Order: sequence, then C-alpha cells, then structure tokens
Amino acid sequence: MRSHYCGDLRKEHIGQDITLMGWVHRRRDHGGVIFLDVRDREGITQVVFDPDRDESFKLADSVRNEYVIELRGSVRARPAGTENKDMPTGDIEVLGKELRILNKSDTPPFQLDEHQQVGEDVRLRNRFIDLRRPEIQRKLRFRSQITHYIRNYLENNGFIDIETPILTRATPEGARDYLVPSRTHEGHFFALPQSPQLFKQLLMVSGFDRYYQIAKCFRDEDLRADRQPEFTQIDIETSFLSEDEIISITETMIRGLFSELLNVDLGEFPHMPYSEAMQRYGSDKPDLRFPMELVDVADLVAAVDFKVFAAPAQDPNGRVAALSVPGGAELTRKQIDDYTKFVSIYGAKGLAWIKVNDLAQGAEGLQSPIVKFLGEDVALKIMERVGAKNGDLVFFGADKAKIVNEALGALRLKVGEDLKMHQCEWAPLWVVDFPMFEDDGKGGLTALHHPFTSPNCSPAELIAHPEGKLSRAYDMVLNGTELGGGSVRIHDQEMQRAVFKVLGITDEEAEEKFGFLLNALRYGAPPHGGLAFGLDRLVMLMTGSSSIREVIAFPKTQSAACLLTDAPGEVSAAQLRELNIKVRKAP
Ligand code: AMO
Ligand code: AMP
Repeated sequence: MRSHYCGDLRKEHIGQDITLMGWVHRRRDHGGVIFLDVRDREGITQVVFDPDRDESFKLADSVRNEYVIELRGSVRARPAGTENKDMPTGDIEVLGKELRILNKSDTPPFQLDEHQQVGEDVRLRNRFIDLRRPEIQRKLRFRSQITHYIRNYLENNGFIDIETPILTRATPEGARDYLVPSRTHEGHFFALPQSPQLFKQLLMVSGFDRYYQIAKCFRDEDLRADRQPEFTQIDIETSFLSEDEIISITETMIRGLFSELLNVDLGEFPHMPYSEAMQRYGSDKPDLRFPMELVDVADLVAAVDFKVFAAPAQDPNGRVAALSVPGGAELTRKQIDDYTKFVSIYGAKGLAWIKVNDLAQGAEGLQSPIVKFLGEDVALKIMERVGAKNGDLVFFGADKAKIVNEALGALRLKVGEDLKMHQCEWAPLWVVDFPMFEDDGKGGLTALHHPFTSPNCSPAELIAHPEGKLSRAYDMVLNGTELGGGSVRIHDQEMQRAVFKVLGITDEEAEEKFGFLLNALRYGAPPHGGLAFGLDRLVMLMTGSSSIREVIAFPKTQSAACLLTDAPGEVSAAQLRELNIKVRKAP
C-alpha cells in the first residue's frame, strides 16, 4: 500500500521513508541521473535515481511514460536553486531506492500536456487517458463535492432520495424519446425518461412530502455546448409549498453551494417576469452580467418611408428594437459585417446601425447607412430614447418579434463577450410569470414548460382564453444559462383535463398516455410543486468550463455517439429476431 500520495509530499516529510504508487508522467536522463516525475490523482512528485543503486537505476532507465510503478524512497529537500515554485511539491524530491514496475504501457495516443493539439475525437476515443489530466480530474472531483453538498443540504431539510424507473413510458418534456424495444411484449417499447416528472408527482400523491433524486435523464434532441442526450438532474418535488417557498429553499441551496465551494456570495436573486426578460433582453434566460438592453423604437419609425423598419413597426407580431453598445463606435466596418453575418444565423435579414460620433452636431454627428431613410428627426429621437452617448454604436433589429428577440438577444451576448462588458462575475435571477402556452407553429398551442404545470387561473378561464394565461412556473438563470426550472403542478383532474384540452390532447389520448397520473389525481393528490436543476450545467458554470462535455466523465459527441465504446452499435440478427424487429435500411 502507498504511504503517501505523490501530490501530498511537502517539506515536513523530509527525512521520511515513503512508498508511492503511480504513473510515470515523464522520464528525464540528466547525465547519469534519472528523474522520474511520478503522478497520481493528488499530483506529481519528482523522484531521482542515481547509479549507486544499480538495479533500481536500470529499471528506472527502462520505464516509459504512463508505466505504473511502485517505489520506495526517502524524501529530501531539493538542492538549493533547483526548487520549483510552480509545483506544490517543488521544494522536495524523493531519492528512489526500490522500484517495481506494476504494469507497462504502450506509447499513449497523446501526451497529457498536449491534449489541446489533438482533436476532441481522439481524446474521447481514449477517454481513459484523457481523464488522467489533472484539470479534468479536478473538475470531476469538484462535481462530486457539489453532489455531496446538495445531498447533505436536501437530507438536512427533510428530503428523501427515491429512485424512479429508467424503463418507463414517455414523459413529455418537449424532446424526442429514446425508445427501448420490449422482448416480452411484442411491438411495444419502453421510453427512457426525459425526466422523473410523473413519478415524482406520484410520490407526492403517496405522501412522501419531500423528494429528491440525482437522476439521469434522456432526451434525443439537437445537441449544443450545454446539452447532452444523457444528462443529470438534481430533481426535487415538495407538497404543500407555494412557489415562493420552493424558490426560497432551492435558492438557499444554490447560494450555500457557491459560498461553501467557491467562497462566492450570490446575494438574493432578483425576480423578473418572462415578458420583461423578453422585452429588455430578448431572452427568457437573460445574462445580467452585461448592462446593454433592447429598447423598443417601433412607435418612432412606424411612419417612416423605410419599409424595412416601418412594416414590422406596424405589424402586431413585429418588433423594431435598438441595442446601444457603449464605446461601440470603435467597431470597424469588418466587425459590423461579421455581426451582420452572426445575426443572420437567427434569421435576421440585416443589421442596421448608427455610429454616434458627436451628438453636439445633431444628425451631422451620426454616421449610418440608414439615417437618410429614417430622417434626421427620427434618428435623433431614437438616440435620445436609447440614451446614446458620443462613441456609442446603436444596432437595430426589425422583423417578427421572435426573430428580433433571438437575433438581438444573441448579439447582445456576443458583443458583451467580445468587448468584455461583464460588470460582475455571477448574475443569478429567477424568471417568473411564464406564459402557460406558446404557438406551436402549426396553428395550435404547446406547453411552454410541460403540461403538468399549473396555470394561474381557473379551468374555465383557461379554456376560454388560453393565449394570454400565465403559469406558476419559475426558472433559475445564472449568467445566461438556464440552470433549473420547475413549477407548482396541477393537482386536480379537472384542471389537468382542461390543459390537455387546450393542447389538443383528446380524452382517449390523455387516458392512453397519462391515465396513471389522471387516476392518481383522483385519490387525494396534495397541492405540490418542485423543480429540477441541470447538474452538468451547474458544474460547467462553477468550474468555468466552456462545454458540458468537460464535466462529464464519459460524454457523448455532438452527434450523440460514444466514441469510446463505439455506441450506438449494430446488434446481432438473433437479438433483432428475438425482439421481432426488422431494420429497414435508409434508402
Ligand atoms: P427542464 O426540461 O427545464 O425541466 O429541465 C431541467 C433542467 O435540466 C437541464 N437540462 C439539460 N442539461 C443538459 N442537457 C440537456 N439536454 C438538458 N435538458 C435540460 C437544464 C434544465 O433547466 N421535469 C422538469 C422539472 C420540473 O418541472 O420540476 C424538467 O425536466 O438545466
Ligand atoms: P437595405 O436597404 O436592405 O440595404 O438595408 C439598409 C440597412 O438596414 C442595412 O444596414 C441592413 O443591414 C439593414 N437591415 C436590413 N434589413 C434589416 C432588418 N430586418 N433589421 C435590421 N436591419 C436591417
């Protein structure tokens, strides 16, 4: 057994005989003396072998990178002048006495310190090597500290950890399901849970009162930097609590977590209605680290000759908004062209702008391709509305509100990042008062959260005017990332049926898909509500990682594959026969 971890050795160990177990990180031959940097999960220590000890010296000479070794030696101070201030163990070294090779290693596919030069696919294919990197080990250990803190907090607050099935029926969270064919029920399929939503509600009906689970969820959706097909939720449900109480319990948890692990005080989280978030930031998950806001100018441009602005200004579903960038007049034509290309990803047909050179000169002091179309008066009124100052640049979006929000919302983040306009490191908030439904793009309505979210009105009112109705849902947002979301649920059958009706789900369909839930609501379902945090996103933000894949031990690629195990893979004809499945090759 080891006596110490490599990374733990310090000055106070000088003079001690020790045993280390670890990997050869690097071997150097310095004119007759061999240096091995030996690594384990706690760090690296330098071991010196000199030729006096013939046998171990020869062995040390024979080892290669990533060999696994056991060594005995004594800790000594590094000779004066050779200390390494960059290494926690840099004051000492180990004089190697006995060396045993526990296992050899082929030449690794990449050096641990050269991971950035190799593509992510090589790293993922050899993830067991990639995971040896101290940086990623630190992140995964940090993840473990996070879940440890959260479990403690929830257990101390009376929450009970209960597992829910992985082989189950579809839960509608808006993504495509992963299906698993049943062998024993021909032609039938399980769905992997998109979340434990329905089961946690059933647990409330059963009287557990406070539930939590660190639960795997599965969603077959388009992947991005902060999405994985298989991810982990910190899933929470409570009975008899209002949204304010649920918000308070979970906010205290996140605040405590940041304070304990990062020594950061997040303060009290502001609340912002969804409509305000869309209006001011073009997003339901605004990044409040940046001060810039979208400002409506439709009323000022509705009557101008410039159809690009006037048409959406007159369209009830349109929006004309300005985004004033402090100091943006410094942007070059090329940079503005690049931003124009950037907003086109979101469907914007252009990106009009006005540079504010000198307001004292009136419209003369404005530089822009559109002032001549808007008229000088209107241009100056807009400058006044957005509070523009000399040296600013004002961007414009004019289109359907959805496009303007997405384009200017994304531009706001991009410009904020590019010009380093962060005003603080952490900006949490709650987004509240979500609409119950949104347009499904096919003439119907779809649930903005999920169909078990309680509306803020009676079933009759909901059916009469579903469009404007708000829900009792809330999202926790941190630095522009949706960390978690939840709601007070529907606990009576009548309301649940009303919501299904608005969503165009027939009684038969509801019975078929969620009959078990409707049934449970008949037998004393308490008022209940909860929330789920995305654990991977939380770890990503807390460790400053740029991708969710950096905080998951074995992540999937953008195309939802596991390169390490080569999954998904083909299965044998016999297995398919057993399942009565015939694979039709795509033409
Ligand atoms: P929702 O769908 O908002 O709510 O998910 C909750 C949180 O899970 C995280 N998340 C993801 N993380 C990584 N990859 C994904 N593909 C992914 N999808 C979601 C997000 C999100 O905020 N049952 C409800 C919760 C409830 O109402 O209690 C639900 O699943 O951080
Ligand atoms: P055009 O008359 O099409 O050349 O447009 C004049 C200016 O308006 C250019 O700077 C375009 O980038 C910009 N523009 C065009 N369409 C839009 C739009 N939908 N929203 C904002 N700016 C636009």
